[in-house]
This record gives sequence, structure tokens and C-alpha cells, in this order.
Amino acid sequence: MKFIKFDEIASTNDYLKKKEKLEEYEVVAAKRQTDGKGKRGSVWISGEGAALFSFAVGYDEKLANRITIFAGYVVYTVLKGYLAENIRNGLTFKWPNDIYFGDKKICGILCEKVREHIIVGIGININNTDFGIFSEKAVSLYEISGKAENVDEIIEKTVAMFSTEISGINERWKDILQLINERSYLKDKILRIKNSGRNTETLYFKDINSSGEIVLNDPETNKIYAYSSLDFEVIKK
Ligand code: BTN
Repeated sequence: MKFIKFDEIASTNDYLKKKEKLEEYEVVAAKRQTDGKGKRGSVWISGEGAALFSFAVGYDEKLANRITIFAGYVVYTVLKGYLAENIRNGLTFKWPNDIYFGDKKICGILCEKVREHIIVGIGININNTDFGIFSEKAVSLYEISGKAENVDEIIEKTVAMFSTEISGINERWKDILQLINERSYLKDKILRIKNSGRNTETLYFKDINSSGEIVLNDPETNKIYAYSSLDFEVIKK
């Protein structure tokens, strides 16, 4: 596996976005980021001890709709291997791009299209314990297991699994979705849709459909809605 390693960089995603020639699965990793990017322009707190890395894969339209969920499935599988059986059940997927442990986020994924590639950016809280403004909402592997782990090893395992399993993504899509739905953080939750033009802004989570869209149900009208992208907050269990 080819690595470009930095002690400090603004953002590993931005580095690849600016790179002239992208090589598939060349991994850019940093110990710290000064301008870590999250979805919808949010900040990703990037302290030392976290796994902060990005790589490029060739663009394909079908893949583009599935890649974030697939990356979540890969990280979920890798992290599960670091947790004892009695606690790994706490790991869940929060659509579209987060992994949670309990009610706190352990991993965020940001996929961005650039020219003929998709940049897959992954941040996993491994040995870090300072989450700044997100201290109430974030958790690390170390805080869960009490054990420090080798960050490079986790990055390598993640990219290796991603690159070997991606070729079977379409054949395995049903199984991946089934796992995502069984292990969904949003199960039985009520969501408030932000910037909604509709009358009611409170919808019940139903599931993730085969297109990777979030499916919600309006309890008053019993109407079903599916979104490929949605800004929401969880308001109730
Ligand atoms: C999110 O939760 O909204 C996505 C967070 C993605 C963070 C990772 S850290 C490595 C890569 N570089 C970035 O600037 N962002 C991603």
C-alpha cells in the first residue's frame, strides 16, 4: 500500500482534491489536520491519535450512490474487530456517513467527487480524547476499550478491505444494506428535518432503501418519503 504521510496538513481530502494526478488507493494520512472537513461544510476536529486519511477511487455513477454506505460498512467491520464481543453491539451506522458508539460519534466519512475520481475521506477517533466543541457528542476507540491501538494498522486494514471488497459491491449490496438496517442508529428514532419546505418537519425513520436513500414516514398522513441527501437532527428515541 502506498502512503503519503504528514505530521500536519490542512485536510487530507483537500490535498487529494488539489493533486494533479490521482492514483487509486494511494493513501494520504495525517497525524493532525488544521482544517479538517466534515459534511455540509462542518468542521472535523482532527487531534493527534485519530486516524485521518483519504484515498481516491475511480468514478462510476452507480458506485457514487453506494460508496459512502460501503465505506461505513468497511469501517464498522474493522472497528468491530477491535472491540470485545460484549461491547461491539454498541456500534451502529448513522445514515449516511457516520459510525456511532452508543449516542456518540466515533467515525465520520466524507466522499467528494473530483474530476474522474471520488475522494474517500475517513476520520476515526482511535486514541484521541479531546474533541473540542464536540466533547459531548464524540467518543474514541480508546475510551470504549481502554486500550490504545496502532492507528496506521487501522488505516491499512480499512483501505485493504475497501479495495478488495469493492469489486463485489453490487453483488453484495443486499447483504450490506441488510446489515446497515439491522445496525442502524436511527432505528425507532424521530427526526426533525432542517430547512424543510413542507408543513410537518417531524418524521419517523423507517429504513435505508436499495438506492441508499433514507426512508421516512409521516405519522399524521402515513406518507412515505425517500431522500438521497437530507439535513436532519434526531429529536427522540
Ligand atoms: C463528517 O462526519 O461530516 C465527515 C468527517 C470526515 C473527516 C475526514 S478526516 C480525513 C478526511 N479529511 C478531511 O478533511 N475530512 C475527512
